[in-house]
Amino acid sequence: MKKFLVAPSVLAANFARLEEDLTMVNNSQADWLHVDIMDGRFVPNISFGQSLVKVMDSICEKTIDVHLMIEEPEKYVSSFVDSGADVLTFHIEATNHAHRLIQQIKSMDVKAGIAINPQTSVDVLDDILENLDLVCVMSVNPGFGGQKFIYRTLDKLKKLKTKIIERNLNTKIEVDGGVGLQNAEAILGAGADVLVAGSSVFKSDNPIETISRLKGIQVANYDI
Ligand code: DX5
Ligand code: ZN
Repeated sequence: MKKFLVAPSVLAANFARLEEDLTMVNNSQADWLHVDIMDGRFVPNISFGQSLVKVMDSICEKTIDVHLMIEEPEKYVSSFVDSGADVLTFHIEATNHAHRLIQQIKSMDVKAGIAINPQTSVDVLDDILENLDLVCVMSVNPGFGGQKFIYRTLDKLKKLKTKIIERNLNTKIEVDGGVGLQNAEAILGAGADVLVAGSSVFKSDNPIETISRLKGIQVANYDI
């Protein structure tokens, strides 16, 4: 069976009882905590900044997976590493110097990832794939939780997975947006290694059980 990780997205948590929600994540089978940073410029929404990430890191025992949806990510990567990021991902559409930024993140002993928007082809990663620990394939337009999964993403996943297998790389594929029990099997079959799930986890009646059901999905072979 294929191994994969589940990363609840804290954007969908109840911030009035953040500690409780993060304790739930600690007690669950979740592997990572996905943390969305939005600047109101790269995306039309603002979330929160470094100080809250620090608080989350002090409570959450899981790997902190920071997803920067911000312009000029080069200005902020070191402060997010200082705040507790274990995995740090920025958008290819937000910088002209992705290669340099990846080196910079890795030099701080943090896993480095690149996210791509729905309109961005996986081909733009051809000359940098070797350097990446993670590719975050957006399956919604970034900026908001609770949106509908864009099904065209499955073809992108298959294409990217094929490149990664052909080149014998360890790069993980993360899928972010609209992921839940209804489509997780298809997403894993198309090649995903990390499922980000916000609303489908935190807005469910029993988040711990939802995480455990996601973790329990069995995929024997990739559908690529
Ligand atoms: C979207 C964010 C996602 C979001 C996922 O801009 O990057 O990580 O939190 O939320 P759901 O799972 O509700 O689509
Ligand atoms: Zn995200």
